[in-house]
Amino acid sequence: MQFGHFDDANREYVITQPDTPLPWINYLGCQAYFGLISNTAGGYSFYRDARLRRISRYRYNNVPFDFGGRYLYIRDNQSSEFWSPSWQPTRNQVEKYSCRHGMGYSIIGSEYKGIEARTRYFVPLDENLEIWQLTVTNHRKTAASLSIFSSIEFCLWDAQDDSTNFQRNFSIGQVEIEDGVIYHKTEYRERRDHFAYFACSAKLAGYDTQRDSFVGPYRSWDKPVVVERGESANSVAHGWAPIGSHHVKLDLKPGESQQIIFVLGYHENPVAEKFDPPDSQIVNKKTVKPVIAKYLKAANADAAFDRLRAYWDELLSICQVETPDVHTNRMVNIWNAYQCMATFNMSRSASFYESGIGRGLGFRDSNQDLLGFVHMVPSRARERIVDLASTQLPTGGAYHQYQPLTKRGNNDVGGNFNDDPHWLIIGVSAYIKETGDWSILDEPVPYDNQPGSETPLYEHLQRSFQYTLDRLGPHGLPLIGRADWNDCLNLNCFSDTPGQSFQTTTNKEGKVAESIFIAGLFVLAGQELAAIADHRCHKDEAKRYLVEVKKMDETIHKYGWDGEWFLRAYDDFGKKVGSNECEEGKIFIEPQGFCVLAGVGLEDGLAKKALDSTRKHLATKHGIVLQQPAYSRYYLHLGEISSYPPGYKENAGIFCHNNPWVMIAEAKVGNGDNAHDYYSRINPSAREAISDLHRCEPYVYSQMIAGKDAPTHGEAKNSWLTGTAAWNYYAIVQQILGIQTSLDGLQIAPVIPTSWKGFKATRKYRGVTYKIEIERLGKGNNIALTVDGKKVDGNTVPIPANGTKEITVRGTLT
Ligand code: BGC
Ligand code: NOJ
Repeated sequence: MQFGHFDDANREYVITQPDTPLPWINYLGCQAYFGLISNTAGGYSFYRDARLRRISRYRYNNVPFDFGGRYLYIRDNQSSEFWSPSWQPTRNQVEKYSCRHGMGYSIIGSEYKGIEARTRYFVPLDENLEIWQLTVTNHRKTAASLSIFSSIEFCLWDAQDDSTNFQRNFSIGQVEIEDGVIYHKTEYRERRDHFAYFACSAKLAGYDTQRDSFVGPYRSWDKPVVVERGESANSVAHGWAPIGSHHVKLDLKPGESQQIIFVLGYHENPVAEKFDPPDSQIVNKKTVKPVIAKYLKAANADAAFDRLRAYWDELLSICQVETPDVHTNRMVNIWNAYQCMATFNMSRSASFYESGIGRGLGFRDSNQDLLGFVHMVPSRARERIVDLASTQLPTGGAYHQYQPLTKRGNNDVGGNFNDDPHWLIIGVSAYIKETGDWSILDEPVPYDNQPGSETPLYEHLQRSFQYTLDRLGPHGLPLIGRADWNDCLNLNCFSDTPGQSFQTTTNKEGKVAESIFIAGLFVLAGQELAAIADHRCHKDEAKRYLVEVKKMDETIHKYGWDGEWFLRAYDDFGKKVGSNECEEGKIFIEPQGFCVLAGVGLEDGLAKKALDSTRKHLATKHGIVLQQPAYSRYYLHLGEISSYPPGYKENAGIFCHNNPWVMIAEAKVGNGDNAHDYYSRINPSAREAISDLHRCEPYVYSQMIAGKDAPTHGEAKNSWLTGTAAWNYYAIVQQILGIQTSLDGLQIAPVIPTSWKGFKATRKYRGVTYKIEIERLGKGNNIALTVDGKKVDGNTVPIPANGTKEITVRGTLT
């Protein structure tokens, strides 16, 4: 069953039923001002940091799930009836409901008793504000006399404090109202130099800024007393809960349409110019007023919207494909790329499943996110790399996360996740492969943000590699530390105390437990680093890395192979994890995918065996589960992984993030049928028809789909912020379609399904547009290339001569 449909021409998903199984959301803004918006206008906004600069309030874990947002109310002043065109919060039986989630905007609306109302929500480029463009049309045969009420609930900035410290916060709320604009200035009188505002383009009949006055005692947002009455209270918040609400009276002749614009924004003043007059406590509005005035004009709002559309046209045009599979095309050309922007911006911080409070930007997450983002805005990828590397510790280790606002490592979580450092090598390598910008390696970057500690970025990579060599365990495999990629395999944790964090509790010295996953990652990162060193003419250094890589490869063969598949780890007792000898958790996906994608066992058949075992034991029709058999009880020495009921999350859930590793591994062994088959199993567009089972958005990947041990097998959870976005994009574009970036230029090495006759693609790369056409002549993956009609050897397209704008690359597969 579906709840809407794709509109590929407009790059939108159109939801036609408001009560989707879960809120289906979109992101507004892609630079500094962000909003989350659900299909019924729920959600909130923040500036840069969802924890420290929360503009509007949102209550997670609410009933219903999604409640609180950018709500508008329409009141029919003839009948006194009122409703919300976004369905929530009043939930009237509206008609012609639709929510069009597009690239950085959402248009939500419906018709009720002949009054149609649709609102376009978006954040203009380069501005710290959001626009709500409401269009109301009277389809009745008679004139309509309406009242429009807007509403937003202001958050007192620090989202953590806002939801805990009521004894103080109920006494500090402050607003100003000037020329119909509501300014939220809580804490501005002391240490803040920023404020929020909420403006309306129409003449106001009234306003409210105190929640209690607007909503009324013992009521909720579905029935605010002011809307019911049809008259604002003109309340001025002093303490309690500041909100913004405008009241506009709207008379519409039959057939008439009118537009009202609301602008919600964030503004900063220089500290010395906070107040106007200077010795007063009144917010200086000199620089914000022109911004507000600008976007309250429809022509300017429309122009800003057109600019946003053009921006996305441009971003998406960098890589467009035309394959025989509509789901592949749709995801690559539109939604997967779009999701990669969201994961780049949010990491794992703010979604409907991530509160924006708990986590900042993860070191490993953000580095991996670059794989799907770097081609879109390389300058921002560069900045991110430098920010991440600046939080690296002198040992080569890393803070597991950093706060986006302060760009400082997060002390609460700390470090010692022993995979973290290697992801920096992967991220930097992806950046150089895309851009050819080698200068990034010479950029001076500090350790732990300490001024004076700067070394060239290149040395950060060297230390990342050395980090593992300094931490080898009894078998010569990497020690796991707190955890590797799998945050829930906590082999040094041994936690038996309720409420302890599995990620930060460490009860063992950590000198025994080893990870075969990190070993695979080391092999991959080592090869990438060696290639970089080689290019920089550090030949001996490159050789030394490859010697270590070979040694690790041998160690994996010796101690990391279980007979039919790669082992997962050794625990603190030196016993195997992910072995046929284990009672539960005999085989894990991570080492199968990652060792093979790093090249381990490609030559001696282990790779193929590992992938066959994966297919046999882990593959389901909804994707590949993380391990089997699921853990049926809590194992003190394994940690959080065994805390989840079987089939969920890391305990044998389909953890989508590592499915693409298996796709890539299948491509490495030349099996395009398997690779694309796995791709299709978790492709959200391909799952649209089972939306009632899948439940999450059909246009973006979710972190997990319940595994075969769960009663809800096939149900997705934790949509949007997942490494699946970047890895799946990388797997399909670079490994299956084979449009690969490399240090030497673009390589074309498709491993596509045997049934495909070929495909076409356009890829803008280092200033040149590559028009690519692949034709399948035989069943294999041997490629023969011509560039502008001339045959070239191998699969690397020679870097085009300076000034070349476009080239045509034709490939035949036999
Ligand atoms: C989740 C992991 C996550 C970790 C760290 C665990 O509860 O299952 O997926 O990486 O928390 O936040
Ligand atoms: C989500 C975390 O953000 C990521 O860092 C981790 O690798 C996966 N969960 C697996 O545990």
